[in-house]
Amino acid sequence: LFVPVILAGGSGERFWPLSRKHRPKQFLTLDDSGRSLLQATADRLTALAGHAARIMVVTGRDHRAQVLEQLPDMPVENLLVEPTPRDTAAAILFAALKVAQLNPQAVMGVFPADHRITDTPAFERVVRRATQVAHLTDHLVTIGVTPTFPATGYGYIERGDLLDAHDDLAAYRVTRFTEKPDSETARAFLSTGLYSWNSGMFIWNVQAILGSFEQHQPALYAHLSEAVARHTPLQPRLPEVFPQLAKISIDYAILEKADNVLVIPAEFGWDDLGDWNAMERLLKGEGDNVSVGRHVGIDTGGAILYTTSGDDLIATIGLEDVVVVRAGDVTLVVRKDRTQDIKQVVQQLKSHP
Ligand code: GDD
Ligand code: MG
Repeated sequence: LFVPVILAGGSGERFWPLSRKHRPKQFLTLDDSGRSLLQATADRLTALAGHAARIMVVTGRDHRAQVLEQLPDMPVENLLVEPTPRDTAAAILFAALKVAQLNPQAVMGVFPADHRITDTPAFERVVRRATQVAHLTDHLVTIGVTPTFPATGYGYIERGDLLDAHDDLAAYRVTRFTEKPDSETARAFLSTGLYSWNSGMFIWNVQAILGSFEQHQPALYAHLSEAVARHTPLQPRLPEVFPQLAKISIDYAILEKADNVLVIPAEFGWDDLGDWNAMERLLKGEGDNVSVGRHVGIDTGGAILYTTSGDDLIATIGLEDVVVVRAGDVTLVVRKDRTQDIKQVVQQLKSHP
């Protein structure tokens, strides 16, 4: 049994003001497909799993209704709701414990809800391959993508010995997993030619990942497994336990520590749409500007312009390499090289709304 689990609990702050607290990135339709990123993710996984009823989604309480609305074919009981989101380690352990209740022999896949994939057949091949490996062995299988620049926002996976070659999809033992290195380290990694970026997708059998949590995060494992086992609608344990769980991502919690990690490097047109600059890859434009909505530009180059209302017009004069976004009652103007700092605006608004 293969159970794909979609992580849909992120806050998507880097796409503010298009993404707001109540509508983070995964729920947005960014291209002309008519499907949100979450829906597109579910479409791909439904095809792989054979049935929408096989897919599980983990999200926070605030986003429960939106997930159900966007994925009407998924049974309600496949939606796992975290009372308080505690980052990806807790979300993944929660899902693994639930999958193990369904079938202790299951292979589980973890998929972020907010990535774009352009080569679906290649994606299906690598996931099928990873699923086979996870079925036969107790490895934690990661899917790597070829790095193109020394990004500091990704995990880096160093491949070691070849474990098993199969067509063009080889599985390697991982000698080191480094989450979000600084740019000097990232540059050094790239120069070796031995590194992949972590795509954030993981495949493993549930026993293997539960064993890893027990070994590397014993407190998290003990608290959450006890809560899941004893939770009933009448005597809920999860709302009490979740706020106390360690807030840590799966990358730091498990992948940096485990010695049974594998990587299958693959190309499938992966893009994690990390911030506004990703729009350049998504949208068509005029000259070297890309825009959604009406725009008049005089001596404007390399700009990303986005309005959510058909009535709005953005006019720019003498600007280079900026992002201008009008969404609802908010206007954002930011230099392209500072888009990572949008999070700071969101933080400030949170503390002084
Ligand atoms: N349910 C739930 N609960 N989902 C969450 C939570 C949570 O508390 N936190 C994050 N997510 C979801 C996000 O919506 C996203 O789909 C996925 O988990 C990954 O979280 P991000 O916050 O986007 O992680 P990241 O981009 O900083 O880093 C991860 O992804 C990179 C690739 O995009 C790491 O795995 C990196 O190593 C990796 O390179
Ligand atoms: Mg991400």
